[in-house]
Amino acid sequence: MQDIYLDNAATTYPKPEAVYAAMDRFAREKGGNPGRSGHRRSLQAGREVLRAREAVARLLGVKDPSRVAFTKNATEALNVVIQGVLARGGHAVITSLEHNSVWRPLEAMARREGISYTVVACSREGVLDVSALEEALRPETRLVACTHASNVTGGLMPLGDIAALAERHGIPLLVDAAQTAGRLALAPESEGIQYLAFTGHKELFGPQGTGGLCIAPGCEIEPLLYGGTGSRSESEVQPDFLPDRYESGTLNAWGLAGLRAGVEFVLERGVEEVRRHEEELTGLLLEGLARLPGITVYGPREWERRIGIVSFNLNGFTSSELASRLDEAYGICVRSGLHCSPLAHRTIGTLQNGTVRASFSCMNTAEDVDHLLQALGEIASQ
Ligand SMILES: Cc1ncc(COP(=O)(O)O)c(C=O)c1O
Repeated sequence: MQDIYLDNAATTYPKPEAVYAAMDRFAREKGGNPGRSGHRRSLQAGREVLRAREAVARLLGVKDPSRVAFTKNATEALNVVIQGVLARGGHAVITSLEHNSVWRPLEAMARREGISYTVVACSREGVLDVSALEEALRPETRLVACTHASNVTGGLMPLGDIAALAERHGIPLLVDAAQTAGRLALAPESEGIQYLAFTGHKELFGPQGTGGLCIAPGCEIEPLLYGGTGSRSESEVQPDFLPDRYESGTLNAWGLAGLRAGVEFVLERGVEEVRRHEEELTGLLLEGLARLPGITVYGPREWERRIGIVSFNLNGFTSSELASRLDEAYGICVRSGLHCSPLAHRTIGTLQNGTVRASFSCMNTAEDVDHLLQALGEIASQ
């Protein structure tokens, strides 16, 4: 049976060969704990982590690499900011396309600590009206948080307008770039973004268990975790300098060696080329789906407003039935259900059934799209 992977929005597969090789090399040849001991293996491990930090900073447009703090995923990075900024109470504004990694920490803080937050409704097509976001701001609003691109619709948010609005009101902006880091050019500091959360295992092609947070100058907040950093060990208080302030405990250095190789793969290929390739595949898929009977596609159609994530349903099937059929009968991996974003499904009217989601990386080919369309055509005609 064919083996086609179209679930890259969940995690990219396969990774570039260099990623597997870098992790293997780190584990066999370096092996020390970064920043902990003075011997050569520890120093080599520290250098690997620094290389990873420098590569990520270059790709994500962060001038000072020490302003990239590594976490185990985007969820942890989002929690650092949400729990840090709202530690003394206040109000936050988010959109109705957010992932549970933004919604749940806010809801937990609302229940536990009495903070409040407003969810600004996007249209059924997933479009945010920025003036509605402005209306939701209050004197006690401490944070605006929004996803850069929806992991359900693939729709891009009007980030420039949101950043300008947040700046006008003097409110820090947290961007969830889980789906866009590696897919789009970013420059958080010059774009007025104070906090940018990313994950390593999606379009940066690193392994699972890697991710991080880019923090603009002057935006230091309380850490989420306290503990050993290998620095200032004599002190009972957490170091106040970056990245150590946000990196308690031994880092996933094997994973960061792989992340470095993944980021270098993207840098070599170029984000523009990644985007051009995804545009081609997404165009083919959207055109093909439009020709099939009984298919509903969600999210914006124009490429300028989206990324390579396409959600759809087929009449007569639940999303999980269709995804299982594609996997079992055709060897095609796609994701079904709510994709950890019930808010987005409520917005586009698919909360009951969810959607089937096909998502590309630059490892996919036009043949992968053909196979998916052929399989869907057969299923639709049965
Ligand atoms: C938009 C968005 N935010 C956050 C996350 C969480 O990422 P991670 O699982 O790496 O924490 C995801 C993952 O699917 C996502 O798509």
